[in-house]
Amino acid sequence: MRVLVTGAAGSIGSTLLRGLPSLGHEIRALDLVDGPEPALGWVTGDCLDPAVAFEAVAGVDAVVHLAGNPDEASLPESLESHVHTTGRLLEAMLAHGVTRMAYASSNHAVGHTPSGEVLTVAARPRPDTHYGVAKASAEALLSLYADRRGIDAVAMRIGSFHEQPTSVRELSTWLSPGDAVRMTDAAVRTTVPGFHVLYGISANTRSWWDLGPGRALGYDPQDDAEAYADVVTPAAGDAAENAYVGGPLVTQLELPPAF
Ligand SMILES: NC(=O)c1ccc[n+]([C@@H]2O[C@H](COP(=O)([O-])OP(=O)(O)OC[C@H]3O[C@@H](n4cnc5c(N)ncnc54)[C@H](O)[C@@H]3O)[C@@H](O)[C@H]2O)c1
Repeated sequence: MRVLVTGAAGSIGSTLLRGLPSLGHEIRALDLVDGPEPALGWVTGDCLDPAVAFEAVAGVDAVVHLAGNPDEASLPESLESHVHTTGRLLEAMLAHGVTRMAYASSNHAVGHTPSGEVLTVAARPRPDTHYGVAKASAEALLSLYADRRGIDAVAMRIGSFHEQPTSVRELSTWLSPGDAVRMTDAAVRTTVPGFHVLYGISANTRSWWDLGPGRALGYDPQDDAEAYADVVTPAAGDAAENAYVGGPLVTQLELPPAF
């Protein structure tokens, strides 16, 4: 497939640029900053800019939308970075007749849910931050465009993307680079119509999240954080950090004022 990857210079984006071509995809990249040219070229610009979004979406089969600020920010900044950019790309997709989006949502859309039982995609949105509110809102926007505009979308609620897990929490929430590529491949290839949510984690023995919906869309994770359990050093604050699925954003981050 011909796939536009936004946020292509970032940690997940650069991993997808390396991995998706080996699964048969031709990539166009978009980011605020320059990067190495993939087969369909690199667009440098802000995907909030209508001209940039229109140019970048032309001629692709699917959009993988990763661009955004992955950190906590004010409410307007968070909404602009995650919701407005999603809306801009969706409108560009409609203009070009592109119907498939894979969206980088986050576990922080449900981050204030107490951990303990395996969380399904039926859990109510329960953000832990303005960032989480923006991710939950972007999911709502995708649902609207699925129902009213014929868009097919998968919101990938990514856990913790790293080369390897770095904390006890990440033994539950880790998404490996290889599984990030497999997950995104499944999200753009699936023929299941409408709006769907999956949990973007590897097949972790200690997973807090239900992998069933992802598997139903074709995501077959291959890695397990447990392979690193012996090299992850437990910390005194692990139990407190792990009381909520959003981890330290719930227990350590002081929520900033909205404005
Ligand atoms: N890394 C994780 O563990 C994780 C977990 C959950 C969700 N996510 C989400 O996945 C996405 C990618 O995360 P990442 O870790 O690769 O982040 P990153 O910060 O490494 O990369 C984000 C990239 O997006 C670009 N960008 C930001 N705003 C843009 C805009 N308006 N137009 C064009 N480019 C823009 C940045 O320049 C950057 O290269 C983000 O939306 C993030 O919220 C990441």
